[in-house]
Amino acid sequence: MGEISKIPQHVSIIMDGNGRWARLRGLERLEGHKEGVGSVRASLELAVELKIKYLSLFAFSTENWSRPKDEVEGLWNLMFKAIERETEFLIENHVRVLILGNLEQLPQDLQAAVHGLVEATSGGTGTTLIIMMNYSGKWDIMQAANRFSKENPGVEMRPEDMDNYLVTASIPDPDLLIRTSGEERISNYMLWQTAYTEFYFTKVFWPDFRKSEFRLALEE
Ligand code: FPP
Repeated sequence: MGEISKIPQHVSIIMDGNGRWARLRGLERLEGHKEGVGSVRASLELAVELKIKYLSLFAFSTENWSRPKDEVEGLWNLMFKAIERETEFLIENHVRVLILGNLEQLPQDLQAAVHGLVEATSGGTGTTLIIMMNYSGKWDIMQAANRFSKENPGVEMRPEDMDNYLVTASIPDPDLLIRTSGEERISNYMLWQTAYTEFYFTKVFWPDFRKSEFRLALEE
């Protein structure tokens, strides 16, 4: 095992390849997402161990609505169950959870669960886990610009205003962005926030991205 010379403050991950992982095994796509939840847990555990201050995960893009209804509902269901199952672990490990994105479009019961989780973990002083849900970079920039102009009519926006109006306002920009599954694109993720971010791409599919793979990314 190599050395991690410097622990980044904020690591962000585009979790990709669940569908292909499942197809390779002759399984339904949802089985890949299910296995992917295990990788969410593993990455968070390593982030906590290494005292990474912020771990953000791209869990659902505004473009993911175009997927079959069963798959979208399956994803909501997985997230709902993960919240129920993991809240205690998160609190015990001093993890604070933030869920960012266009949350109004989520099913009501999931919205309630999300708010409950954020509230229940709000005292966490260790790693902040940020789940980007129904998020896209263009949407974020648009909502920031619209909100700013409504609150400051006739005022020209400055870069620091944009920083303060994005949904990530309270969070430092990512130092490292990881994308799994061999895709080497930003895919409408944090467009503004990744201006200076280092990118790390791996061919490993998300369900296989566990602690040792995360370590490799950090070492690099
Ligand atoms: C990308 O794989 C993955 C997603 C769109 C969903 C990621 C969500 C999870 C792992 C569950 C999240 C759960 C929690 C608790 C945050 P893909 O379906 O695009 O794979 P493909 O490109 O191979 O088809």
